[in-house]
Amino acid sequence: MSTEKNREFMKSNFAESVHQRSDQTKGLPFPPLQKEIPAGASLSVNLPDPDPGLIIKSDFFQLIQERESRRQYTPESISMTELSFLLYTTQGVKEVVGEGYATRRPVPSAGARHPFETYLALNRVEDLTPGIYRYLPLNHQLLFLEETDQLPDLLATANLGQRFVGQAAGVFIWSCIPYRAEWRYMDHGHKNMLLDAGHICQNLYLAAEALGLGTCAIGAYDQAAMDALLELDGVDEYVVYLAPVGKIPQEPV
Ligand SMILES: Cc1cc2nc3c(=O)[nH]c(=O)nc-3n(C[C@H](O)[C@H](O)[C@H](O)COP(=O)(O)O)c2cc1C
Repeated sequence: MSTEKNREFMKSNFAESVHQRSDQTKGLPFPPLQKEIPAGASLSVNLPDPDPGLIIKSDFFQLIQERESRRQYTPESISMTELSFLLYTTQGVKEVVGEGYATRRPVPSAGARHPFETYLALNRVEDLTPGIYRYLPLNHQLLFLEETDQLPDLLATANLGQRFVGQAAGVFIWSCIPYRAEWRYMDHGHKNMLLDAGHICQNLYLAAEALGLGTCAIGAYDQAAMDALLELDGVDEYVVYLAPVGKIPQEPV
């Protein structure tokens, strides 16, 4: 793609598309709010309810001031309750609305389409086998997908040598299912999907900071390698953003 095309892509084309008929307008069925659970899926893990009692930094201004990208993590594990809190604050479902075609979540999304799935590459979460998982936001559960050998090395390579990604307790990986937004917005949904993704990661930054954990947005990754890690087809679903999470070294007093 050329620079010119990319610059155009950043602009809004909503006004040009007012006369087009979307699949929603044509009455076509809405796409599932959550990717289906494959037949024979091995294990769904119930997550504990998100617990605001975990928050150690609750002053909003302090939270905003102290948020930063953190790239150093200790070898400690994070707990299931911490993981649950981070998943809920990024992609949890508060309510299903619009006769079942939309959800309300802790982050905004154009048309409440929420066109993402959250995968987790977990190295160290208490009580969980290391491996690849998918969050089921409608159920607040985790679907175990597979154990993966050499996950830290695979993640480092798939993130273009950024070794700290593989060293985190876990990595949040957001894929996009574009049709979820295209069903309503056709060709003017794509810019908004990327804007939506930014909101998710910002909530992760703030939620991690509130719990005394660290994270760092990652946009520099190998597309084919990350899609292959999650067995995504790269057309109807592909990775758009990711962020490692872990405990952070204590700052000297
Ligand atoms: C879209 C996006 C992509 C980013 N990609 C990477 C990345 O691949 N590797 C990295 O170390 N940091 C990455 N960052 C983090 C930025 O480098 C960081 O936000 C910036 O240096 C400002 O630092 P701060 O977040 O601590 O304020 C990314 C941030 C954003 C918003």
